[in-house]
Amino acid sequence: MAESLIIDTALSKEEKYKALLPQIEALTSGETDLIANISNLVAALRQGMGFFWVGVYFNKENQLVLGPFQGPIACTRIPYHKGVCGACYTQQKTILVPDVEAFPGHIACSSDSKSEIVLPAMKDGEVKLVLDVDSDKLNDFDEVDQQYLEQLMKLVESWY
Ligand code: SME
Repeated sequence: MAESLIIDTALSKEEKYKALLPQIEALTSGETDLIANISNLVAALRQGMGFFWVGVYFNKENQLVLGPFQGPIACTRIPYHKGVCGACYTQQKTILVPDVEAFPGHIACSSDSKSEIVLPAMKDGEVKLVLDVDSDKLNDFDEVDQQYLEQLMKLVESWY
């Protein structure tokens, strides 16, 4: 297992993702425990990409329940039909929000969060979890984030 991540902070966002993804695969490949792997995945994303908040919500108990995360404390339970995470769950697709204030029903766990991207991990047609990444800057996520984070969700899906 890798002892530490090697990410050059001078790299572009796309180059950082390209450097980070194989390291996350290596970091998680020898471990079969889902929570252990998701914990390292979110830590690696925060450390490698410098995200403000990154974490998962599991589909359990008929709602979305907070799992491993890195960043400020967060809401623990989100109804299926609420917020950006709920939209990701019900639409079963990536939701990119350039300005959280402009998203109807957005749940403000932190007033510092300004933009976010939420992606589903699916198994047998069901959302198992959503990955939520928040930024303290407006308009901080784009199709580059979507492309590489969706690749990462394929890895998460392989753990189910
Ligand atoms: N903003 C999310 C809630 C989760 S926190 O951002 C960590 C939402 O609207 O679903």
